[in-house]
Amino acid sequence: MNLTELIESRQDQHLSELYEFLRIPSVSAKSEHKPDIERAANWVADHLRSAGFKTVEVIPTNLHPLVYAESLEAPGKPTVLFYGHYDVQPAEPLDLWTSPAFEPEVRDGNIFGRGTADDKGQVHIHLKALECLHQFHGKFPINIKVLIEGEEEVGSVSLWDHVQANKEKLKADALLVSDTSMLGKGVPSITYGLRGMNYYQIELTGPVRDLHSGVYGGAVPNPLTILTELFAQLHDKKQRIAVPGFYDDVAKADREERKALNKLPWKKKDFERAVGAPGYLGEDGFTTVERIWIRPTLELNGIWGGYQGEGAKTVIPSKAFAKFSTRLVPNQNPAKIAKLVEKHIRKLLPKTVHCKFEVLSTGKPWVAPYHDRIFHIAQEALQKGFGKKAVFIREGGSIPFVTQMHDTFKVPCVLIGFGLPDENAHAPDEHLALENYYGGIKSIAHLYEDLANL
Ligand code: BES
Ligand code: MN
Ligand code: MN
Repeated sequence: MNLTELIESRQDQHLSELYEFLRIPSVSAKSEHKPDIERAANWVADHLRSAGFKTVEVIPTNLHPLVYAESLEAPGKPTVLFYGHYDVQPAEPLDLWTSPAFEPEVRDGNIFGRGTADDKGQVHIHLKALECLHQFHGKFPINIKVLIEGEEEVGSVSLWDHVQANKEKLKADALLVSDTSMLGKGVPSITYGLRGMNYYQIELTGPVRDLHSGVYGGAVPNPLTILTELFAQLHDKKQRIAVPGFYDDVAKADREERKALNKLPWKKKDFERAVGAPGYLGEDGFTTVERIWIRPTLELNGIWGGYQGEGAKTVIPSKAFAKFSTRLVPNQNPAKIAKLVEKHIRKLLPKTVHCKFEVLSTGKPWVAPYHDRIFHIAQEALQKGFGKKAVFIREGGSIPFVTQMHDTFKVPCVLIGFGLPDENAHAPDEHLALENYYGGIKSIAHLYEDLANL
C-alpha cells in the first residue's frame, strides 16, 4: 500500500473522528463554553499523541489553552511549524441551521457543522495527514512543531505573548497554515496575502436614563439617531472611507499583480450566488477581487440600543452602541489607523452625546512573495491530492498569527486553504466539501513527505 492508498483506506474512520471533534462546542467568545474549550484542547492533544507525537503539551494562558506538540527526530531535515485553531465562532442564530450546529452530518457531499471549514475540519486534515505519514514511515520524516490555539476567533491575544516568550521553541524553517479558502471548487489555492483588521466598539450616551419620547422628544438628543448619522458619513459617494489620512499609507497595487489577480479563474457568478443581494457596490476604480483582497474597508458589524422587543415602546434611549471594524492592507499601520478613526469620529459627533471609544483588537496585514522553493513543493503536493495545478491568491480575511510569525521569524508562510468562500464560515449551515477534506489529507501528507526531501 502506498501513502495515498493508506489514506484512502481510512476515509470513514477519519470522518467519524472529525465528527467527534465537531461535537465539542468550543466557542471562544462565550465564557459558558469554557469547559468545552478545555475539552477541545485536550481532544487535540490526545489526537496529536495518537498521531505519533511524544511531546504534547496543553499550555494554560490568561484565557484559552494552547496546544503544542513537537517531533524533532529528523536530523538534517527542515523544521516546519503548523498552526491552526480549535475554537469556533458562536453558532447563533440557531434557528437558521438546517441541522444543529454541533451535530455534524453529511448532506450532498458536504459535512455540515460549526467549525467544519473554520477551522476544525482543516486542523483535522493535518492531524490525519501526519498520523498516516507516521504510520507509513514508522516515524515523522521531517521535524514538526504544531501549535493549535483556542483564541483565534477572539483576536489571538494570549498567543502573541506566548510567541514573544518562546521564540526559540517555536522557531522553524517555514510556517504552514490551513485556515483559508480555495478560490473555487476544483481550484486548489495557496494564499500569499491577508488583510489586517482593527475591531472597535463605541458607546454613545445622551440622556442619563431612557426617556418617554412623548414627554421629552423634540428637545433632547437621541443617541441612536446620532449614531446612524455618524455611520452615514463614514463612506463617500465613491464608497471610499471618509476618514482623513485613512489611505495615506496604502501601498499602490502593482500593475502586474492586479493583472494576475484579475486573470484568476474567479467566478463572479459564484460570488453573487453566495451573496444573493439585489445589487452590488464597492470602491470606485477596483474590481470585485481587488475590493475584497487588496483594498481596505470599514464595516459596521453590529448596532444596537433602544427598544427591540415585541410591539411598540415609545422611548428615547440613553445609550446607543456599535461594533465596527477596518480591514487593512499593506502598508497601513493598525495603531495609526485606530487613532485616525477615533479622531474623525470624535470630530463628527455633536457635543450632545458622550462617546466611549474602544479598540478591541488590532492586527497587521500580511503579503509575502511566493518564490521560495517551498511554494513549488506545496503546489506539487496539491497536484497529488487534487490532480490540478494550484493558483496563488490573496484573501480578505485576517489571521493575526501569520503576520506575527512572519515579522518575528521572517520565514516563508504557506497558507493552503481547503474551505470554499461560500461554505458559510461564521454563519448558519457552515460546511466543508468532503472532496476537499479528503483531498486535503492526501495533499498535506504529501507536502510533509516532500518537505523531507527539500
Ligand atoms: N479563518 C479565518 C480567516 C480567513 C477567512 C482568512 C477566510 C482567509 C479567508 C479566521 O478564523 C477569522 O475568522 N479571522 C477573523 C479575525 C480574527 C481576529 C477574529 C476575521 O478575519 O474576521
Ligand atoms: Mn479560521
Ligand atoms: Mn474564523
